[in-house]
Formats: sequence, structure tokens, C-alpha cells
Amino acid sequence: MFISVVLNKFVSILRTNKSSIPNFKNTNLNHKLNTMQHKDSNSSLITYKEPGQFEETRFEKIHNVIVNSSEIGSKAVAREIADLILKKQEKNKKCILGLATGSSPIKVYAELIRLHKEEGLSFHNVITFNLDEYYPMEKENVESYHYFMHDHLFKHIDIDPKNIHIPDGMVAPENLDQFCIEYDAAILAAGGLDFQLLGIGRTGHIGFNEPGSHANSGTRSITLAHITRVDAASSFLGINNVPRRAITMGIGTIKKAKRIVLLAWGENKASVVQETIEGEISSQVPATYLQEHSNTTFILDNEAASQLTRIKTPWLVSSCVWTEVLKSSAIVWLCERVNKPVLKLNDKDYNDFGMSGLLAEEGVAYDLNIKMFNKLQRTITGWPGGKPNADDSNRPERALPAKKRVLIFSPHPDDDVISMGGTFDRLVEQGHEVYVAYQTSGNIAVSDEEASRYAEVAVSIFPEANPDLKGVVQALQTKKIDRQTELLIRKIKGQIRRKESLGATRFFGLPDEQVHFLDMPFYETGTVKKNSLAEQDITIITDLITAIKPHQIYAAGDLADPHGTHKVCLDAIFAAIERLKIESFMKYCWVWLYRGAWHEWEPQEIEMAVPMSEDQVLRKRKAIFYHQSQKDNVMFQGEDSREFWVRVEERTKKTADKYNALGLAEYTAIEAFKRYYF
Ligand code: F6R
Repeated sequence: MFISVVLNKFVSILRTNKSSIPNFKNTNLNHKLNTMQHKDSNSSLITYKEPGQFEETRFEKIHNVIVNSSEIGSKAVAREIADLILKKQEKNKKCILGLATGSSPIKVYAELIRLHKEEGLSFHNVITFNLDEYYPMEKENVESYHYFMHDHLFKHIDIDPKNIHIPDGMVAPENLDQFCIEYDAAILAAGGLDFQLLGIGRTGHIGFNEPGSHANSGTRSITLAHITRVDAASSFLGINNVPRRAITMGIGTIKKAKRIVLLAWGENKASVVQETIEGEISSQVPATYLQEHSNTTFILDNEAASQLTRIKTPWLVSSCVWTEVLKSSAIVWLCERVNKPVLKLNDKDYNDFGMSGLLAEEGVAYDLNIKMFNKLQRTITGWPGGKPNADDSNRPERALPAKKRVLIFSPHPDDDVISMGGTFDRLVEQGHEVYVAYQTSGNIAVSDEEASRYAEVAVSIFPEANPDLKGVVQALQTKKIDRQTELLIRKIKGQIRRKESLGATRFFGLPDEQVHFLDMPFYETGTVKKNSLAEQDITIITDLITAIKPHQIYAAGDLADPHGTHKVCLDAIFAAIERLKIESFMKYCWVWLYRGAWHEWEPQEIEMAVPMSEDQVLRKRKAIFYHQSQKDNVMFQGEDSREFWVRVEERTKKTADKYNALGLAEYTAIEAFKRYYF
């Protein structure tokens, strides 16, 4: 049957015609408030309440639904679109869809394709208008939105090509204004947008309506904000290749849609989502204009929703059940808010900031403070592998076995030293049997110039040794690269990164046999776009864990980017652990998550804090320096233009400063870990 009962339920959840807001109790989209439950146990199952109408949503001005994963949210949205198409088909009408590109809608399109192929959903009555296109941009360019839409949707479904509209990135400059006027007119002539799908940029853009856009703007050309270009830089292999301009539907055009659904996944979107839902309407955050649209829903995963007041500081919006995690979050937050260390908080501080309930449960501030202080204090250890011959009842790691087998997984060939170099160094120094596994080759992050230089050195020393290497030098100079040469270039780049990693691991005193290069296949596409995680990737991880039987696993738990390599690498580890957890050796295996290159755990999340002396900070810096191809103008710089060692030193110092501000000892730097329980 085309419409399964379960999916029907999803649709009803997301259908938000205001007159028929469904009862969200007992649905599969239950918002999982990990840290709190509301007093009324029934209401903890409610995913949606009218913005501003109830205590929890009183700061919110846009209807939003929080889902446990982007897969669940995407399927529900695809279902809503499919139902709309079917409803229109029944009435013999066209269905006018406004579509978006980017990483956010990819799984919605995948589900629509599945519905077409497996459940017979036809798109014969569908007319689409895409939000935007880079300018100038050729249709054939793999970075064009034209290419994206065909690749991710159109070529897989039965839509009539005549019904597809995407702004033309090659329209002549003198015809651009007229083109934009006609684009809006075509939408109007088709009957207006029945449904508009949106993502949101970190600038708060919808479409490419960057800050400064007017509420009534129509389709037009626009200059892209710097942050938007930074975010696109990795796809274009460097910011200099990202177009500076685009054509975008206007805010006015978007707002005329009868129904709008905006998708936001991942922590990177959390702050702009919060500003958009809770802030004042402002041209500086153009998505806030959606507050004025009466049939808009934001679909958020837990990470994207994490800065909403009701999630981040629920004690400020309603009474809550004080779990241990919530208590820690609240007390750390309170210290920052009143600028006091834990032991100096008093009853008034708790009462003034919505925590009287907590105080009532726990007695007086003094008791609460001591408990929290001890909890934080006990996370600190200079013995990440456990302190031998010591009472370990209040330590983050077990004393026994005194010499542990430790397996450090590093998604790219430098994440280990960047994110946990000090701890890595200590584990080796304290005599543990440390293994490191580089999950991907990291080859695409090495520049052509770097590869060419190594090839040239090899050729100049051994002119006749490898004719292919000469070909590489020539190909890179002339930019004429055939498939075989391209593979060789990738190999050179991969080898450069391997040797850099070995430089760092040897510096820490690790024998080469304990270093594994896994070259996980999902990564080896040669482009920024990676394959999905496959069985062979998981098997590689499973085999290695089985061979080493580690007492400790360290993994990069960086969840900021739900589509990034770090997330895929972590998923592979979790999948392997899931398979292996019944094995007896896994009973003794503890998994510690470091946070990857970009973010750090907050004090309330940290379960092991490893302090570093100034000397150790310098040793870590030196280990990072071995990764020369990732110094100076690196290919995938991200939003921060400083070198990795500078960023990471600032980050570890910040954690140390936060501990100090909470009233704990003053350290130069701290590396932080959170345990993963399976
Ligand atoms: C794409 C578009 C943009 C994106 C936004 C988020 O057509 O108009 O507004 O939706 O930049 O991009 P992702 O989804 O890649 O995070």
C-alpha cells in the first residue's frame, strides 16, 4: 500500500494548517528532552505547542518540531510533500513546489525518489521553482544548483523537464533584471507556491537572501556574504573559487508560499535557529521574516534545537524534573551568569534564576554547591589510562589493568594530535600499549602544489625511476589530468599525510607497527562529496577492534556537522561497537570521546579532564607541526583563518579557564573527554 499507517502518522504531525493543529501526543516525533521531563507526564510527549502559547514556548515565535534524527525529519517532510502531490492529483491540479539545494534537503529528495520508485508516487503534475543559483554559473558545473537538483532528484523521477525552473546562472548581465521579474511572474502564473522547502544559512539567509534583505524583496541578484562563501569553500576546493554573487528568490516571493517548511540539522545551525525563532524580526537575520508567515514549520534535529531556551535552559521556562545532567548544566550556567565560582553560589542566586525548585529538592545552596564542586573536581586526572595502585572510586578511569591497550581513532591523519595530543603523549609516557588508527587518508586536503613539489623532488633525484611521476609534475603544471594520473596524484597526497602522521607518532615514541592507516573506502571519492558508510567501512573498524581488544577506545565525537567525515567515522565506530558488544573483551572496554578539531565539551558534559603543563602544550604543538601540508593556507580552513595549533591552544586554555572560574585549580590547558556508554 502506498501510504503506510506509520507514515501517515508522521504527516499528520507535520501538517500544520493552523486551524487543524493535530494532537501531538503519543506520536513518533516525541521530542526527546534528554535532560528533563515536564511535571505533567503527558505533556512530555508533546512535540509541538503553539509558539508563545504555553510556558515552554513562550520565547518562541515560529512553530517548530524537534526530531531525533535528520532521517526521521526528512522522511516526514517527504511524506507531507507526497501527500500534497497526491491531493492535487485527486483534484486534477498542478502542485507547485519551491525547492532548495544544499546539504539540508538531500534526505528529503532521497525519500521522494524512494516513494517514486517503490511506492509509485508520480510527479507528472508537479511544477518546481528552485530558490537560487550561483551567478555566473554554468549548468554543467558540478557545483551548480542546476547540476545538484538533477543529480539529487530530477533525473530519478518522472517530472516533465518543462516543469522544472531553476534561475539561469548564465543569463547575460543586461538581461538579469528582466529575468528575475519573469521568474516571479512565472511563479504567479503557475498559481503561486503551494509548498516551499527551505534550509537556513549561518548568516540567517533563506534562499540567498543575505542580511540586509528587504521583507518585500522579489527575485533578484545578490552579493553573497563572506560566511556563506566560507561555508561553500570546501565544495569549491577553496574560497577563491566560490562565486561572489547569486540569483535568489526574494523574501517576498518566499513568504507568498502557502506552506513553508525549513530544515536545520546539526549544531552549526543552533545559534541562528535560536535567533530566528526567538529573536526580533530583523533584516540582519532574514529568516526572522518567517515569523510573519502563519503556516511555517521548522524541523530541527536535537543539535540544531540545542540553543532554544526551552532546551538549553529549561528551568527558565517551566518547572522541571531535576536529573543529574540537568543539575550540572544549570549550576555551571548559573556560575557563568552571576560570575561566581560554584562554592560561592547562594540561595538568592538559585532563586533569582529559576532554580528554586532545585533548591527545594536539595536543601540549601551549601549542600548543592559541595556536591557539584566534588563532581567537577573528580573529572580531573593526570592519568588518562588510570592511576596504578590508587583508589579509583572517585577517578574517571579504572586503576586496573595498570597497563592498558589503548586504541585512538583519528578521522583525519591529524585529529589525534590536534584534539588529544597531550593525552596521547601521556598515555605513551605512562607505559600503556597505545595504537592509533587513521580512519581516512585525508588526501583531498593536500594541495596540488604540495603534491607537485614532492613528485618533482623524487624525479630530480631519480630521473628514470618512475616515468609516471614525471607525468604527474607535467599534468599538475598544465592542469591536464587523466584518470590514471589523478589516481597517482591522490596516492602521493595520501602518502604525504601518512608520513606526516608518522612524524608525529614517532615524536611521541610510538613504534610504527602500532600505527594503522585504514583508508576507509567511503572517503576515497577524490572529491569533497563522500560515499555513504558501507559494510566494508564498518568491517575494517570491527576487525581492528577485534585484533587489538582495547581497554580504552578514543574517538572523535564531533557532531557539529552531521554530514561531515567526522560523523561518518564516528558512525562506523558506533556500528562496530554495536556488533562487538556481546564479545567478552568489550566488557572491559571503555570508550572516550574527544571533540574533534572545532569544538569542545562544556564543563557539565566533561567526564575526564586531562590537564597539561606548559611543556606538554609545547610538545603537542610540535606534534601538530609535523602536519606540514595542513599549515598555512590549508584547503579546508573552515570559518577560522588561524592555524590549527593556535586554535587548539586557545580551546584547551579556555577549558582550563572555565574550570578555574568554577573555583577549581588553575591549569595552563585541559583536554576534555566524555564517555560513550554502550
Ligand atoms: C539553497 C539555499 C540556501 C541553503 C542554506 C543552507 O538553495 O537557498 O539558503 O538552504 O545555505 O545550506 P545547507 O543546507 O547546505 O546547510
